[in-house]
Amino acid sequence: MKEFIGLLIHKIGFKPKQTGNTYYKETAKKYLQRRQGSAKWEKEQGVVKEFLKYFADGSRVLDIPFGTGRFVDLYLDKKMSIYGLDISKDMVDVAREVLGEKFSHCSVIIADATKPLPYEDDYFDAVVSWKFIKFFRYDIAKKILIEIRRVLKDKLIINVAIRNPDAEIVDDPDNLKAIGGNIYEDDLMRLFNESGFNLLEKRLIVDGSKISNIDEENTSRIICAYLLEKSYTIGDTIN
Ligand SMILES: C[S@@+](CC[C@H](N)C(=O)[O-])C[C@H]1O[C@@H](n2cnc3c(N)ncnc32)[C@H](O)[C@@H]1O
Repeated sequence: MKEFIGLLIHKIGFKPKQTGNTYYKETAKKYLQRRQGSAKWEKEQGVVKEFLKYFADGSRVLDIPFGTGRFVDLYLDKKMSIYGLDISKDMVDVAREVLGEKFSHCSVIIADATKPLPYEDDYFDAVVSWKFIKFFRYDIAKKILIEIRRVLKDKLIINVAIRNPDAEIVDDPDNLKAIGGNIYEDDLMRLFNESGFNLLEKRLIVDGSKISNIDEENTSRIICAYLLEKSYTIGDTIN
């Protein structure tokens, strides 16, 4: 039966949506409404603002995934050249609507960040990747990070929910369906390292309490933000 369903799916060419590629229609429209203003959201804004202090005014920043453009005010405060990439046109449409005139300061493209990025090597001073690599398996997350590293000159601001070491044990981290909330911090550091990044700073966002302002408790995860620096010591050995 399982084989038959598999064959049928193959024949009709059905491709399941990649994890994370679900921010369309109502999900996109309600994205901000469901999160903006929550303590977690504000904390995240504060941490990104703090990490942006490491960049000179006028730096070039790429925000992947751009989503609703939540950090644009912070980038504009620093007179940054703003680039964004997101797979969902619906999310970018929300950004266009909520940002108004400010959107015209952003070069945003609709593209898949699991594929090669359409930018030159070392093009950006900063990449901000917020609420993204959580969706992927270790090997795909690594592929994404290596490509981010290619287009980056300097530092990456990223956030990931790591596994609370006191929570129920999960399987082999390399075989997780999605790393978000499941990856132990040691394995996350290994992922960063194998992708060519060194850790500079870490901030705690939420320790297993409320997830946005949707009343959802999840004590198994600890949401953290990291400031990473492109490592040049392993250079071309990354593949
Ligand atoms: C949880 S939202 C985060 C958006 C924004 N960074 C934020 O913090 O609000 C996840 C975003 O990832 C985008 N996304 C999912 N898969 C993607 C992919 N393969 N390439 C680019 N963007 C993707 C979605 O469209 C959505 O906008």
